[in-house]
Amino acid sequence: MKQVNSTFKAFRVEESDGDYNCSIKDMSFSPLEDHEILVKVKYSSLNYKDALSASGNKGVTRHFPHTPGIDAVGIIEESTDTNWTVGEQVIVTSYDLGMNTDGGFAEYIKVPSSWAVKLPEQLSMKDAMVYGTAGLTAGMSVLRLTQLVKPEDGKIVVSGATGGVGSLSVSILSKLGYDVVAITGKESERDFLFSLGAKEILLRQEIESMASKPLLKPLFAGGIDTVGGVILENIIKTTSPMGAITCCGNVASPKLELTVFPFILRGITLVGIDSQNSKMKDRTLVWEKLTSEWKPEHLVNTSNEVTLEDLNKNIQLMLKGQLKGRTIVKIEN
Ligand SMILES: NC(=O)c1ccc[n+]([C@@H]2O[C@H](COP(=O)([O-])OP(=O)(O)OC[C@H]3O[C@@H](n4cnc5c(N)ncnc54)[C@H](OP(=O)(O)O)[C@@H]3O)[C@@H](O)[C@H]2O)c1
Repeated sequence: MKQVNSTFKAFRVEESDGDYNCSIKDMSFSPLEDHEILVKVKYSSLNYKDALSASGNKGVTRHFPHTPGIDAVGIIEESTDTNWTVGEQVIVTSYDLGMNTDGGFAEYIKVPSSWAVKLPEQLSMKDAMVYGTAGLTAGMSVLRLTQLVKPEDGKIVVSGATGGVGSLSVSILSKLGYDVVAITGKESERDFLFSLGAKEILLRQEIESMASKPLLKPLFAGGIDTVGGVILENIIKTTSPMGAITCCGNVASPKLELTVFPFILRGITLVGIDSQNSKMKDRTLVWEKLTSEWKPEHLVNTSNEVTLEDLNKNIQLMLKGQLKGRTIVKIEN
């Protein structure tokens, strides 16, 4: 067991009179007890949920002080589960990590062994975090969408396209031969989106300002939505008969104002994505595909690497929708 009086660094969020402050603190080790593995974290990544947790969103994290970080990759240092041995490299994403269990923005995490996935041999720890929960979510969205819509059916639209889930979705779908229309609020990032494989760019205000009718002229065979609100409403209304849309996020809004007409007059399917509770067999499949036929090389090469010290600034940028691509966190231990 780790020495009782040794400490490790963590990015902690503390509540004081309704304000939430983040800083790097020295933390003490506690015994494994309910959790079977202690992992020395090498990399984490920044996701929208982390930004919400770090700003005191009680829908994500109920109790503070807390360490966010829904993604982590590292090396097992202690294990009470005989299926896992010290020295094994593991990825831990989603479940409750970083929500109400202290997360990956720290030198160590202590988690149930059932949350761990063995790091695939052909994947580096750093690349694993370029994907992270965003990759898992984009992957789950692509898995579900591609069962329902084929490249020859027409264009696929992706919202929040420069964000983590969005950029990975654009990249994977393009690799699979789909014509991707990327919705973005960042006109200046057209070249970035084309470099990921997007065929067309649709500016956020163009889709937000479409007529508020129950159905609109069909434009897309399907979509991956990461933002919710009016944008998802208008994607649904502009999807061709028998098309499908996945829905995973609420960056714009959690609300949807719709009629049943897209569903009963056009046979549209709306597929909910919950990567947190996805089955282990689907997780493993997505991780395998991300390292082979789906590999988003350009995103791997252009990801933004930060340290725990840089997190505050990057969290603020993420909350303003100003980050692009993936931000990975190198843990210097
Ligand atoms: N269901 C699940 O399992 C699951 C898992 C992971 C994430 N999520 C959710 O998926 C969403 C995206 O996560 P992420 O980590 O990819 O976040 P992210 O990296 O911050 O990307 C979000 C993107 O949305 C766009 N955006 C920002 N503000 C917006 C607004 N007000 N209206 C419309 N678009 C806006 C921006 O892209 P552009 O500037 O290019 O438009 C931004 O980069 C979040 O809601 C997150 O909670 C869900």
